[in-house]
Amino acid sequence: MAVIIKTPEEIEKMRVAGRMAAEVLEMIEPHVQPGISTGELDRICHDYIVNVQKAIPAPLNYHGFPKSICTSINEVICHGIPNDKKKLKSGDIINIDITVIKDGYHGDTSMMFCVGQVPELWQKLCRVTRECMIKGIEQVKPGAHLGDIGYAIAKHAHAHNFSVVEEYCGHGIGKVFHEEPQVLHYGKAGTGIILEEGMTFTIEPMINLGTKQSKLKPDGWTAVTKDKKPSAQWEHTLVVTADGFEILTLRKGETI
Ligand code: MF3
Ligand code: CO
Ligand code: CO
Repeated sequence: MAVIIKTPEEIEKMRVAGRMAAEVLEMIEPHVQPGISTGELDRICHDYIVNVQKAIPAPLNYHGFPKSICTSINEVICHGIPNDKKKLKSGDIINIDITVIKDGYHGDTSMMFCVGQVPELWQKLCRVTRECMIKGIEQVKPGAHLGDIGYAIAKHAHAHNFSVVEEYCGHGIGKVFHEEPQVLHYGKAGTGIILEEGMTFTIEPMINLGTKQSKLKPDGWTAVTKDKKPSAQWEHTLVVTADGFEILTLRKGETI
């Protein structure tokens, strides 16, 4: 199966879906405070997506995922399941991952939030992980290789003595949530497929303070670090343009 090149009409629909996913993060930001449960965050996002945006929360029932967003706290790498018992406390770092479907197309984005007072090293992990995502994004242009993205990301993570999760990756996205290509967050420059105008995919590095090794919780979804040290992740959806990239999930006031 080859990588699907989107038409200008499809890219316009992905702009709309991407903008909506970003708006959910903008909306939820003031709610991310000590004491709120991840279940409440899920309900607020679900209701906004369904009732205000008239869109669909893509994770809900996706391969059996039971909630509308993913909430991944501290040692959780990705795909944390919101629940009413798990409350945020000062010192936590949390990734909130939003994917909406609007008019048949997906927008997928996530970011880290620091809750209350977070230790400087954990704040640095969050900051450097965002820089990793940006360094990956900056590689994107027609003629670049997919491996250039992973190489740039891993180089920056390793420069700070952090590790790169290898079991989960970015992905092509469009009518389908996860389509080709797989976008690895490590690799060798000059290898992999050559990027072409009209490709749409995510870049979503997961960077760990300690070991890169992960394990899956018995719930079948929650991925955690083997050493229980924290993990951070940021994600954007982008399209390859004639001379570079366009980020489809930029938030208001966000610059790269
Ligand atoms: N949004 C996640 C990603 O970035 C995927 C979540 S799948 C779910 O690809 F089922 F866990 F929601
Ligand atoms: Co994604
Ligand atoms: Co996502």
